[in-house]
Amino acid sequence: MNIRVINGPNLNMLGIREPGIYGNTGYKALCDKIKKHAKEKGVKVKLLQSNHEGDLVSFIQKAYKKDDAIVINPGAYTHTSIAILDAAKAVGLPIVEVHISDVSKREDFRQVSYIRSACVKTITGHGTDGYLEAIDYLIETEK
Ligand code: DQA
Repeated sequence: MNIRVINGPNLNMLGIREPGIYGNTGYKALCDKIKKHAKEKGVKVKLLQSNHEGDLVSFIQKAYKKDDAIVINPGAYTHTSIAILDAAKAVGLPIVEVHISDVSKREDFRQVSYIRSACVKTITGHGTDGYLEAIDYLIETEK
């Protein structure tokens, strides 16, 4: 199984940005943690990050006919991007939306998720473990 793991804007700043909200794990450590988990579970992961909305659209599109599923944390674009929603719908793959923080308990502007309607599951507030849970969910549901 091939899973594409996509991170949006400012997630490259993990470990530096607001550690009280996002924790102390840096982006590279997150990637290493995901790769280790994927190896243990016998799945392949491709890890991508961009601060640009169009790149995220392209990353999603490139999963078409190449990957089996997507895990995505669109960062702040979660709350604004119809283009990312449309890309997610276009590829027709199982997608899990992940947020490190519990967005449901944060500002009003974080209560909207455009991509959610195109996702099979949303995991929020489980820290970086949420990415591993997303991978496990996709493996389980593929069976
Ligand atoms: C986030 C939550 C978003 O609201 C925020 O803009 C982020 C990170 C999270 O992982 O908790 O950049 O997606």
